[in-house]
Parts: sequence; structure tokens; C-alpha cells
Amino acid sequence: YPGAEEFLPARPGPRNLRTAIKTCQGCDLYLDATQAVFGEGPRDAPLVLVGEQPGDVEDRDGRPFTGPAGRVLDRALEDAGLDREQLYLTNAVKHFRFEHRGKRRIHQRPTLRQTTACRPWLSAELDLVEPDGVVLLGALAGQSLLGADYRVGDHRGRIFDLPGSTAWALATVHPSAALRAEDRDAVYAGLVEDLRLAAARLA
Ligand code: URA
Ligand code: SF4
Repeated sequence: YPGAEEFLPARPGPRNLRTAIKTCQGCDLYLDATQAVFGEGPRDAPLVLVGEQPGDVEDRDGRPFTGPAGRVLDRALEDAGLDREQLYLTNAVKHFRFEHRGKRRIHQRPTLRQTTACRPWLSAELDLVEPDGVVLLGALAGQSLLGADYRVGDHRGRIFDLPGSTAWALATVHPSAALRAEDRDAVYAGLVEDLRLAAARLA
């Protein structure tokens, strides 16, 4: 598989990108997923939030963060005083990676190769929106934009320069970590604290 680069439109406006991603075969994930889930939000959003990949719900309805993790994120944004409608939400990888277990489709983490293959779409979104800041929700978003050695545990709450961009990047946990962790209340509180930091940097 060649990576997403050759599937990008010549003129990467929002409409062209949305159309072009439907044809992407940059890695093997297009084979089993229902559809590519592109980011959404205003083009002049001051903040871009980058998750991992669409989940089961997002794969079916075609929009980012509409399932259980999205509900956690919505609540955390509200608690941090941020308005989802004013932000641009997207993912590091645009197709859902899963394995079948009976009738259920169980989320699988995308590989580094798949993440790298998909990065041109994310880069195109960042070039389009030119946000002041980017919130990295979880390890995969960080690895996509800051390199394979990125670990959330080491970096949570820290601000980085985003290579090739004037935006800052804030490291935080993925909202789904607040669903499954034994210490989910502490994880959630950390997420809200980090989102507040992002909000404060915009103010
Ligand atoms: N998890 C993500 O990282 N992104 C989504 O869009 C949904 C769940
Ligand atoms: Fe293309 Fe990304 Fe889907 Fe792979 S995951 S096929 S690179 S859009």
C-alpha cells in the first residue's frame, strides 16, 4: 500500500478533501471499514482535537466522536468551558480498524504503518484550518504528529511545538481511557484539566 499522499486532491479545499478521501486506498484499512470518517468543524476553528480513529458508531454514521468516547469528550469539553461546535474534531486514522468477535466489532489499535499512511489527510486538515493549537487525544495522535517515541504517560499536560506548523500541541489522554480505566475519575479529571489549559491558551 502506497500511503494516502497519492489520493489527495490537487486543490485540497474542504469539499475536495471530503470527496477524495472516499477513494483512499492508502493502507489496508479501507477494505473492511464502512467508510472513511473525515474531520468536522469550522474552518476557522482556533483548536483542532485529534483522536485515534473512528469507533464502531463513527464507522457507521460517518462523523467523528459520536459514540461512547464522544460522549465523554462532550462532557469534558463542557466542563472545561469549550464549545464543541467551535472546534475542529478529527482523528489520526480515518478508517475503523477492528476484529470480529461474534457479532461484535472490537476496536484494534492502528499500527504505526497505518498511522503514517494516513497522516497526509491529517496534515491537509491542519493546513486547511491553521489552528492556534492542537489537542492530542491519546498516544496515537501524538505518535502521528510528534513521532513514534511519543507516550502519553510521560507527556500529559505538556505543550509541544508542532513540526511544520505554527501551532502548539497539547498532550492529553484519549477520552476512552476515562471509560475503561480503573482510575477513571482521575483520568477524566486530568482530561478536563488539560482541556482547560488549552482553553486558557486561546483566551
Ligand atoms: N475514538 C476516536 O479516537 N475517535 C472517534 O472519532 C471516536 C472514538
Ligand atoms: Fe486511506 Fe487512512 Fe483509510 Fe488507510 S486509514 S485507507 S490511509 S483514509
